[in-house]
Amino acid sequence: MSKPKALIAGGLGYIGSHTCIELYDSGYELVVVDNLCNSNISVLHNLKLLIDPNCINFYQIDLTNSIDLQNIFKEHKIDVVIHFAALKAVNESIDKPILYYKNNMISTLNLLEIMQMYDCNKMIFSSSATVYGDSSPPLIETSSSRDLDRLTNPYAQTKAMIEQILQDTCRSNPKLSIVALRYFNPIGGHSSGLFGDNPSNVPSNLMPYIMRVAKYSKESLDSKSNTYKELTIFGNDYPTLDGTAVRDYVHVCDLAKGHIAAINGDIGFHVYNLGTGKGTTVLELVQAFERANGVKVPFKYGSRRSGDVPISVCDTGLAELKLNWTAKLSIEDMCRSSWRFINKALV
Ligand code: NAD
Ligand code: WQD
Repeated sequence: MSKPKALIAGGLGYIGSHTCIELYDSGYELVVVDNLCNSNISVLHNLKLLIDPNCINFYQIDLTNSIDLQNIFKEHKIDVVIHFAALKAVNESIDKPILYYKNNMISTLNLLEIMQMYDCNKMIFSSSATVYGDSSPPLIETSSSRDLDRLTNPYAQTKAMIEQILQDTCRSNPKLSIVALRYFNPIGGHSSGLFGDNPSNVPSNLMPYIMRVAKYSKESLDSKSNTYKELTIFGNDYPTLDGTAVRDYVHVCDLAKGHIAAINGDIGFHVYNLGTGKGTTVLELVQAFERANGVKVPFKYGSRRSGDVPISVCDTGLAELKLNWTAKLSIEDMCRSSWRFINKALV
C-alpha cells in the first residue's frame, strides 16, 4: 500500500526539518516545499542521510506563487499539509510590515485555496505564543487570545489573523480539519547534531545567540568573534526570581512529535498550546548552557527589549487532554543538543 503524503511547507527550516524526520518515522512520504529564504539546501542533503531519498520530494518554490503551488498538488495527492512557512523575525516585521503581511498571509491563503481545489482536508498550522500578546499567565487557549489590540508587532498580527482565517474557512467547509499549534519557545536540535536553529541573518532569538557567543567569543578577532563577543541580556529589572525575563523553552524534537499527535484530530478548527508549562529565566538558561556544555557565555546586562513581556509560560492542559502530548526533554537536553549542532553543522 502506498504511504500517505504530507506536504511540508517551509520544511527545510528549523522546526520543519525536525518534523520531516518525525513524519517519515510515522510512515509518511514527504513533499517538502521551501523557497530557502531562511534555510539552506544542505538541510535537504542532511535529511536524506536519515530518510530514504525515495520518500522525500523537494520543490524550491515560493508559496506566494499559486501556479507553482498548484502544479505540486497536480503531481501529488496530498493527504495533509503541515504549514511552517513564514517570516518570523519580530523586529524585522516592524521595519518591513508589507513584506510580512504579503509573505505570511498570501502563502496561507494560497495553501487553503489550493488544498480545497484538490480535496485535501487536513492542515496543521504553526501559530505562536505571540498571539497572547501582553496577556498575563495562565495562557489558556480559550481565554484572552487573538485580541489584536494587545499585539505589538506585524508578525504577531499575521499569526492571529491567520488563525481567524483558518477558523472561518473551517466554518465554511465541514470537511476541513485544521489545527493551529501555538508554540512557546522552541530551542535545541536533533540528536544527530545535523539539524538546529540556523537563521540566515544574525539571530534575534536567545538560544541561537547564546550558541554563537559560546563558540565564537573566544576565537581570534574576526567579524564573527566581534559580533558574538558577548550576549546582551535584555533587562534585569523584571519582577522575576533574578530580574531577567521568564520563558517556556520547549525542545524542538518534542515539538515535532506534537505535530504527529495533532495529525488525526477531529473535524473543524482546533487550537493547542505546545510548551512545557515550566518557566526559565534568561540568566538560568545561560547558566544551564554553561553547565551542560562546560563552556563560558560572556554576557552583560542591557535595557529591556521593546515589546518583550516579563513572563510567558504555557498552560499545557488542553494538549495533554486532547492530544495526549507532553514535552519530555529537559533544559539540559536543549542546551546539549544546541551545542552539538553548532559544533557539528556550522562552520
Ligand atoms: P524557519 O525560518 O527556520 O522556517 C521557515 C521556513 O519557511 C524557512 O525554511 C523559509 O525558507 C521558508 N519560507 C518562508 N516563507 C516562504 C515562502 N513564501 N515560500 C516558501 N518557503 C518559505 O522558522 P522556524 O523557526 O522553523 O518556524 C516555523 C514556523 O513556526 C513559522 O511559521 C514560525 O512563525 C513559527 N514559530 C516559530 C517559533 C520559533 O521560535 N522558532 C515560535 C513560534 C512559532
Ligand atoms: C527570549 C528572552 C529576550 C535575545 C520570540 C517571538 C515569539 C516566538 C519566539 C515566533 C527574552 C531575551 C533574547 C538576546 C536576550 N517566535 N533575549 N538577549 O521574545 O520570547 O519570543 O521568539 O513566533 O513570537 O517574539 O524569544 O528567544 O527572542 O527571547 O536577553 O540576545 O531572551 O529579551 O526575554 P521571545 P527570544
